[in-house]
Amino acid sequence: MCGIVGYVGKQDAIPLLIDGLKRLEYRGYDSAGVAVLDSAGLSLRKAVGRLSALEDILHLTPLGGRPGIGHTRWATHGPPTEANAHPHTDDSGRLAVVHNGIIENYKELREELEKKGHRFSSQTDTEVIPHLIAQELKDGAPDTLTALRNALSRARGAYAVGVLSADEPNTVFAARHGSPLIVGIGSGEYYIASDVPAILSRIREVIYLNDGEIAALRTDGVNVYTLAGQRVQPEIHAVTLQAEAAERAGFETYMLKEIHEQPRVLRNLIEKHSDLSDEFELSANYFRKLNRIMIVACGTAYHAGMYGRLLLEHFTGLAVETDLASEFRYRDPKIDPGTLLIPVSQSGETADTLAGIRMARNWGCKVLSICNVPGSSVVRESDAVLFTEAGPEIGVASTKAYTAQQMAFALLALHIARARGTLNESEIAQCLTDLRKVPDAIHLVISRKETIRAIAGKHHDGPSSLYLGRKFNYPTALEGALKNKEISYQHAEGYAAGEMKHGPIALINEYLPVVCICTQTRDEVYDKMISNMKEVEARHGRIIAVATEGDTLVKEIAGDIIYVPAIRDEFSPIVNVVALQLLAYYAAQARGTDIDKPRNLAKSVTVE
Ligand code: AGP
Repeated sequence: MCGIVGYVGKQDAIPLLIDGLKRLEYRGYDSAGVAVLDSAGLSLRKAVGRLSALEDILHLTPLGGRPGIGHTRWATHGPPTEANAHPHTDDSGRLAVVHNGIIENYKELREELEKKGHRFSSQTDTEVIPHLIAQELKDGAPDTLTALRNALSRARGAYAVGVLSADEPNTVFAARHGSPLIVGIGSGEYYIASDVPAILSRIREVIYLNDGEIAALRTDGVNVYTLAGQRVQPEIHAVTLQAEAAERAGFETYMLKEIHEQPRVLRNLIEKHSDLSDEFELSANYFRKLNRIMIVACGTAYHAGMYGRLLLEHFTGLAVETDLASEFRYRDPKIDPGTLLIPVSQSGETADTLAGIRMARNWGCKVLSICNVPGSSVVRESDAVLFTEAGPEIGVASTKAYTAQQMAFALLALHIARARGTLNESEIAQCLTDLRKVPDAIHLVISRKETIRAIAGKHHDGPSSLYLGRKFNYPTALEGALKNKEISYQHAEGYAAGEMKHGPIALINEYLPVVCICTQTRDEVYDKMISNMKEVEARHGRIIAVATEGDTLVKEIAGDIIYVPAIRDEFSPIVNVVALQLLAYYAAQARGTDIDKPRNLAKSVTVE
């Protein structure tokens, strides 16, 4: 949700800012802008639309200088116009600010500043920040750092900001409270960015700013302070990610690359945790005494949480609930210190998920997060973390992070089952053997992508589609539908197959594609799923089935079929969803959408 980048060093800032913004564009792409210090003082360029529009403007009216800040926007306050694009300045044009987050009390601050003579030129909440800094300087703040500290002390809400001042050459200021921001350390140069992959090839070390911290990046080093002005000694982390991890590696899109990465990601994750030793930082004794688990997440991560609930209930016998983080935060759930909260998040910055963590901590619960991004807010606010280790996920539609979350739940469920004695050692060993088959099975599904592409080609043009699944594959149906609507813009609805006759059956006619996940081989829901497919067939729906190799019964009913290898029922959703990711992918391709950056979306939802 908005990407920020900043540079201090000896090179021209513009190419570095543009390169960073390209890698951050997945966070928002309504408009973009840059500001640098040059012989004229402070100079800016802004453009509405994708980053390429800003590049065109820079081509026509070149800009050079250093240091600099840049921004790619996902609009919250005010539509995507040039006036609303960041950076925003004060009246003098000597201060420029880029911001990610929401300043909740911006209206009252703006009114107050307007009364003092400040003139605003945008509808954004962000614009109050440069004006507040300017007012603080006018009121006697000795320098920009102090003025920024005072200004931010008055702001309510969430922010990550980068600030440039014509009166402070060779300096970029940065601050965060509730929105992500990191400081990257290169050789003799410093960066700020919304995430590490944006500047990965240029830095060796990173500082994850804490909430309420301000950094001053100068050509000779970085100093970090609290909002109250106290100097803090930041922890410096070596960057371990490889630069290639954030590249497209010859694939036409990041999403396709990330779909292909899944076998490797899952293999590594299983190998890392397969001894199920006490590595989740919570003791076996803690898991034995636990009486309840509450999972909170949003979007795709919520679907992983739904799957996690089914696995945890099935293997551990614990009472488990999953809720949308945005709903959880407004409920009055009966939660006590005997409840473990499991937030699930790829980015680790989702505002609603973070709010859930904070609520649970207030109630005295332990928090074990399933997260992909080291140093993220979710990670830092949790007691324990099970990292999904999927590497940077750049495509806005989540794929490898989802299957890694599913795998993390499978490993966690087995770990807790062992601690609580609900599975014996040979059952656990069998589960691990079955889990190890998942990466190869996914590989096989991916190798059938041309078949899936052909099926997508037949069904992508209608206005709507229905996805049906049961039990472990009910979340798969929801996730398949989400993927489809997210990137192909075809309306898609995921439904528990047993619920179909309670309403959505009215939609079925010869035009409606109905994706049926029917891979269960040894449990009771297979027959039920067959009956549901028969009901669709009787109403002439177009059935696209995901079925187990060799299943001839499903073949008789379905118009189109995607075969997947036989996998233990409990783990089949990790494989099945890959077929649906590809189905959505090729539908989107046929419909000509921008797959990596679907309209209106942003990768990391850092506002409520
Ligand atoms: C996934 O395809 C979506 N873009 C979205 O639903 C996402 O899963 C959701 O916003 C949660 O994000 P998180 O995992 O980073 O918390």
